[in-house]
Amino acid sequence: VALDLLEPSSIATALDTARPEAVLHCAALADADRCEREPTLAEALNERASAALARECQSRGIRLVAVSTDLVFDGRRSPLSEDDAPAPLLLYARTKLAGEEAVLAEARGSAVLRVALVVGRGFGPRGSASESIAWALHAGRPVRLFTDQYRTPVDPDSIAAATLSLFTGSGAGRYHLGGPERVSRYELGLRTAAVLGLPTTALTPISQFDAPGAPRPADVSFDSSRAHRELAYRPRPLAEAIRDGRPQPDIIASA
Ligand SMILES: NC(=O)c1ccc[n+]([C@@H]2O[C@H](COP(=O)([O-])OP(=O)(O)OC[C@H]3O[C@@H](n4cnc5c(N)ncnc54)[C@H](OP(=O)(O)O)[C@@H]3O)[C@@H](O)[C@H]2O)c1
Repeated sequence: VALDLLEPSSIATALDTARPEAVLHCAALADADRCEREPTLAEALNERASAALARECQSRGIRLVAVSTDLVFDGRRSPLSEDDAPAPLLLYARTKLAGEEAVLAEARGSAVLRVALVVGRGFGPRGSASESIAWALHAGRPVRLFTDQYRTPVDPDSIAAATLSLFTGSGAGRYHLGGPERVSRYELGLRTAAVLGLPTTALTPISQFDAPGAPRPADVSFDSSRAHRELAYRPRPLAEAIRDGRPQPDIIASA
């Protein structure tokens, strides 16, 4: 079913054609640098389209689960639970937070899954965080990675299992889905190289303040205990997720 979230009538038509029991809303302008360059599009897609989708789901009694991000926090302290107050630094994160709020306000019984940095097996031409590092190291390309940005990377299978558990239960509100280990971007590079037996000579540690672009939060590591308790969430070990990454982009799947 064709769907353009920027066209409210398209949302209504898609829902009336597909007649889903539930909707998992993954669409976004998820490139943080592009959001800074194209704020109007970021607001339209991440915020207003999420609100419109929530209203259409509510009026049809369709359960809605929306995907959000660990970047809604400013990263001054961690680990972060659902009770911690968000404080987005980037326009991407501000629009995602506004989208979260619209979904929870407009669609009764809806949920928001805040997902950490995604590693492991990606889809299509864009690599997950660990795949992008592995592909660059394979090709002998230099990789500059931040030593001062900490995350709890998580793999798609673990996110999918928690999502299924949410859909088959009645959980509502916000859930954090982080992986079992807290690492810096640079440590993720070292772990990726170690797990896949790749050389580390092309890896360079840098500070995010030495790089161009809007600074990201320093530490948005998640406390995922609500998901552990309520969704039986058991994220896979980081090494296992890294090993599952694709050796090269999956061009055919995205064509
Ligand atoms: N990647 C991460 O590490 C990460 C971490 C935390 C949270 N997230 C969140 O996870 C979700 C998915 O992120 P991602 O990295 O998979 O992003 P992505 O690869 O850029 O995918 C975005 C998706 O949105 C769809 N989309 C864009 N504009 C649309 C429109 N007008 N109507 C309908 N669909 C539209 C795109 O469809 P087309 O392909 O057809 O254009 C694409 O499938 C986002 O909500 C993001 O904020 C991602």
